[in-house]
Amino acid sequence: MKLIIILAAALGLVPAPVKHTPEKDGTSFKEAVAQLEPWQQEEAYRITFYEKRIKVEALTPQGRFRAQKTLEQLELLGERPEGTIFDYPRLRHRGLMLDESRSFHGIEFLKKQIDAMALLKLNVLHLHLDDSAGWRLESESYPDLTALTAWRMGYTYHEWEAGRYQFAKADTPGASGGYYTKAQMKELVAYAAGRYITIIPEIEMPGHSMEVGYAYPQVLCELPDGRLHTGAWDLCPGNEATYRLLEAVLKEVMEVFPSPLIHIGGDEATMKTWSQCVNCARRMQEEGYTEVKQLQGYLVRRIERFVAANGRRIIGWDEILETGVPQNAVVQSWRGSSGGVRASAQGHDVIMSPNTHCYFNYYQDLIRKEPKAVGELVSLRFAYGYEPLAPGMDANHLLGVQANLWTELIPTSEHAEYMLYPRLLALAETAWTPASAKEYKGFRKRARALVDVLRARGYNTFDMDTESDLARSGLQRFPPEGVPIPLDD
Ligand code: ACM
Ligand code: ZN
Repeated sequence: MKLIIILAAALGLVPAPVKHTPEKDGTSFKEAVAQLEPWQQEEAYRITFYEKRIKVEALTPQGRFRAQKTLEQLELLGERPEGTIFDYPRLRHRGLMLDESRSFHGIEFLKKQIDAMALLKLNVLHLHLDDSAGWRLESESYPDLTALTAWRMGYTYHEWEAGRYQFAKADTPGASGGYYTKAQMKELVAYAAGRYITIIPEIEMPGHSMEVGYAYPQVLCELPDGRLHTGAWDLCPGNEATYRLLEAVLKEVMEVFPSPLIHIGGDEATMKTWSQCVNCARRMQEEGYTEVKQLQGYLVRRIERFVAANGRRIIGWDEILETGVPQNAVVQSWRGSSGGVRASAQGHDVIMSPNTHCYFNYYQDLIRKEPKAVGELVSLRFAYGYEPLAPGMDANHLLGVQANLWTELIPTSEHAEYMLYPRLLALAETAWTPASAKEYKGFRKRARALVDVLRARGYNTFDMDTESDLARSGLQRFPPEGVPIPLDD
């Protein structure tokens, strides 16, 4: 039988292009993968469709798993192609971040999203586990993190904010929240690993940390009269108690999560209390610093050394570039793409998740027809058009792309899914497929079919059939990069 090479567009919803066409039908799979990067070889597969049987070739169980997902997609669409699919990913980090601090969605929600991610050949789930609004991971060394802050007065983030940030205990009448036990997270890590998905935990520091100071006031800045700066957003980088807590918590985190990468946040520290603090002043004097912001670099570098001594590598949001960080640190670009370009020029590996294209808490259609969201328009088409290799960026340092779902305005699981699907399909295709093989019309058709599949499987999705002309056009009302936008996350 003559074999035909099948192109992605013929595969329905499968983000599975032929990027390398074997010279002739007789090319062995081993020969075909030999030219790929080692990490690509692990995920590569070839499926050959004969009249009465299907042959799957892969070098690893992971490659076999990716092939299975392609076959699952084909079956869901009722397609039975002829010929050969030869496939492998463009980028090695294909991620989704879920913010479980602002809104806690629970373990079943996470498993369900892992299932969808596996179908889309995504491979990283980044869990944002603390962010002022509630600490979401059990800690044996600092148990009050969850005992005192995993519940709060106010079901939604903004109700909590309007009520002046009141935390509560599990049995406080009217309290809402929750946290993940270590046992639950270990089970989730195994569940994800079974689908070739790594979970990267994030412990935020030194900003976005109000709940830490509430549970353990010894990490707060201290005024000259001995009073503590209660209610502060930032941890005190001058105080040894801060490092004792962070290191103990990170040690527990690394016991639960085998991920080679550990996210330490690093974004949006206000640094307001640092200039009034006796411990920060002492640290600045010891280190010879002239500006308080140098304390952020001190904290990040010290935590980086601790994480590296434990055999892991840090990721930080792009602010970590501003105050000095070792080259081994991975930088996650979120304030547009410029942080990623600068980071790669300095030799850092980079994850691209610019708010311009990858923040799926932003509106996906007209404000008047959508639930309240933030930012401007990140329509399906606009999200699909994203090219992560920004002009001037070193491709060798582009580790991958990631969608982020911040949940200040997304209290329920249904709402979270509505914001994710189908935009996560666009991100998945950007991550897996070479830019030259992307084509919106074909993608939209496949996405439309997958939305029905996801709905049949119990996911809530955005309704593509009622999408406005503006969203369909792919236009975006967003100021040029560099112009500040009113963000609340
Ligand atoms: C961020 O959105 N503050 C990383
Ligand atoms: Zn301080």
